[in-house]
Amino acid sequence: MAIRYQADSNTFILETKDCSYLMKVSRYGNLLHLYYGKRIPDSDVDYLLQLQDRGFSPNPNEAGNDRTFSLDFLQQEFSTDGKGDYRSPSIEVINGDGSAIFSGKVVDYQIDKGKYRIEGMPSLWAADSDRADTLKIRLEDRESRASVTLFYGVFEEKNIITRSVRFENGGNQLLNLNRLMSATVDYRDSEYDLIYFPGRHMMEREFERTPIRSGLHSIGSSRGTSSHQYNPFAIVCERDAGEDHGGCWGYSLVYSGNFLFEAEKDQFGQLRINMGINPKHFSFEMKPGETFWAPEAVLAYSDQGFSGLTHLYHDIYRENLCRSPYGKRPRPVLINSWEAAYFDFDEEKILEIARASVDMGVDLFVLDDGWFGKRDDDNAGLGDWTVNRKKLKDGIEGLSEKIHEMGLQFGIWIEPEMVSEDSELYRAHPEWCLRAPGRPMTRGRNQLVLDLSREDVCGYLIDVLDALLSNARIEYLKWDMNRSISDVWSGLLPRERQGEAMHRYVLGLYRILEEITEKHPQVLFCGCSGGGGRYDPAMLYYQPEIWCSDNTDAVNRLKIQYGTSFAYPVNTMEAHVSVCPNHQTGRSVSLKTRGVVAMDGVLGYELDSRKLSEEEKAFCRRQVEFYKKHYRLIAEGDYYRLSNPYENPRYTAWQHVSKDRRESLVSLVLTDKEGNAGQLYVKLKGLDPDAWYEVEGKEGRYSGALFMNAGIPVPASLGEYESIQFVLRTVQEKK
Ligand code: DGJ
Repeated sequence: MAIRYQADSNTFILETKDCSYLMKVSRYGNLLHLYYGKRIPDSDVDYLLQLQDRGFSPNPNEAGNDRTFSLDFLQQEFSTDGKGDYRSPSIEVINGDGSAIFSGKVVDYQIDKGKYRIEGMPSLWAADSDRADTLKIRLEDRESRASVTLFYGVFEEKNIITRSVRFENGGNQLLNLNRLMSATVDYRDSEYDLIYFPGRHMMEREFERTPIRSGLHSIGSSRGTSSHQYNPFAIVCERDAGEDHGGCWGYSLVYSGNFLFEAEKDQFGQLRINMGINPKHFSFEMKPGETFWAPEAVLAYSDQGFSGLTHLYHDIYRENLCRSPYGKRPRPVLINSWEAAYFDFDEEKILEIARASVDMGVDLFVLDDGWFGKRDDDNAGLGDWTVNRKKLKDGIEGLSEKIHEMGLQFGIWIEPEMVSEDSELYRAHPEWCLRAPGRPMTRGRNQLVLDLSREDVCGYLIDVLDALLSNARIEYLKWDMNRSISDVWSGLLPRERQGEAMHRYVLGLYRILEEITEKHPQVLFCGCSGGGGRYDPAMLYYQPEIWCSDNTDAVNRLKIQYGTSFAYPVNTMEAHVSVCPNHQTGRSVSLKTRGVVAMDGVLGYELDSRKLSEEEKAFCRRQVEFYKKHYRLIAEGDYYRLSNPYENPRYTAWQHVSKDRRESLVSLVLTDKEGNAGQLYVKLKGLDPDAWYEVEGKEGRYSGALFMNAGIPVPASLGEYESIQFVLRTVQEKK
């Protein structure tokens, strides 16, 4: 068992292959955090708790005259609130008497084989081959009888610890739950950096590293989605940690709605991390007996720097998150109609584009926005998911059949969560959208958001999606969501429950996805929210790939994909080759570089293939063949970032290494060209230092040690935005 309770020291010990997590029941019943980091053999580390009498640090009643015991500075596993701990709390409850106090004390615990699951929300699952266990510890507030059960899932071999919390109103009065963090982790010191991934539409998940300073640093979303602006993933790392060395802790939230991540350095230089649903606009009314689950947080620790941390997340998200059979299947190479035609198409044009794509070697054609209702621009039609016969005379069924006759599979776009005012659906059900009564509404892309907290709306959408996927041969569905949510007010919730609407929306979304993906397991679902506005593990649970960004510029994509790669596996990132000048930036780069960058993800195309020359199509076909030949290596190998595009202006490089280290693909884009520049070398990673490698197409064999320590020269002939790839293979087991 990876979990044990050491009775003589009252210590819970969670162990994975390389890390330990310890917590202790204090003599007054509080659950104190002791340690999370590199694996240690100890089971009693009480000495770490150095108690002191500190001014203005209150002492709980049960401590009697002991002025050294104060929650103001002790590391807590799940903080109390209103009992003398002034740091940002794990929980906020308004009790029946109006007090805002929660003082959870350990009442019982249980250790189970296997990994717990969360009702109604995605969470990691354990395969038969996984050694995974669950610890549940219940903390009760004696006065109100409200309790929280802390859930810990320990994936021993995979070095992952998951956390979740279930709140229960065990008393007999109505409570309000205003905050419930999925995970709180208290560190004894704060000499760390914080890494997070801010961004915007078309420039998602940029890399930001900052020293942790006094006060509260919080990031999060209140847009109804996990958002383009901040991703629910952050890293706390040692000050000198880098790609290959140093301790780092990852925090990832399996949630697609409003989230919060906090790093608070307190008065004593200690650090508290909180992660969970954003308490902004959140309040749940809890009747006696009612329970509430916080979404799952996935924690990882690595002493091997960012690469080590990335490998832990990539492995667990590839193997224990995506439920679709496509999670492990090679993905089709697709061509998408959006940048080729936007809203301006009819059946003939679509068929011409599809026909011209066949020679490029793609597998699947995706019809994007514009096929339904009165959708000739983005001002109308959302909600009317019936085909526009003026554009597509034989309907989706007819179009799909014709595309299949060309030897291509067929995929389609939909944006189920939205409605246009100019639509039949809105005229029939204006009450189905989120909109506060008596207030002018706020539009985004001229559309409104359906109220997915309502069961009738969810039921309707399940029927719409089921009919679409049942009535035509559809192998791929792109699920889009194109605005931030505002004006949150649900017509079916009473005043005192309006604070539940946003979380209920997310639960409604999960319910629809659950039913539809269950009913249509053979369909490959692709998530999208104006590109990567909802790129989070919960979406990956249902949708094994996500459109990484609406920005298809290969040079901008270097940064977007760099940031995305820290937590999310390559085979979840859809990346397309588009035309030049690029539609978002106006930049032109070679077809080769566009392909090299796009195969740092799930390769696809998004351009008018009718306009490609025969040479260009042949080039694309070779690109697709190369990608398919190396698919397993790219999709399932270990990923190494060889340079940081924010620090290295000269080139951006990355590397895929097979798990057995016998094969590797190195890709590099030159991002700045200087006159008479010094010779550049790129140092490789992840190879077997003792093995001999040859580079495809080149003479000689060299050790992994040499390639990693001296590097490979970047050809001086490479021009700005030009790229190069090297394929390495071992020629002999060991030196
Ligand atoms: C936003 C998506 O990210 C694009 O790829 C495209 O599908 C448009 N929406 C269509 O409206």
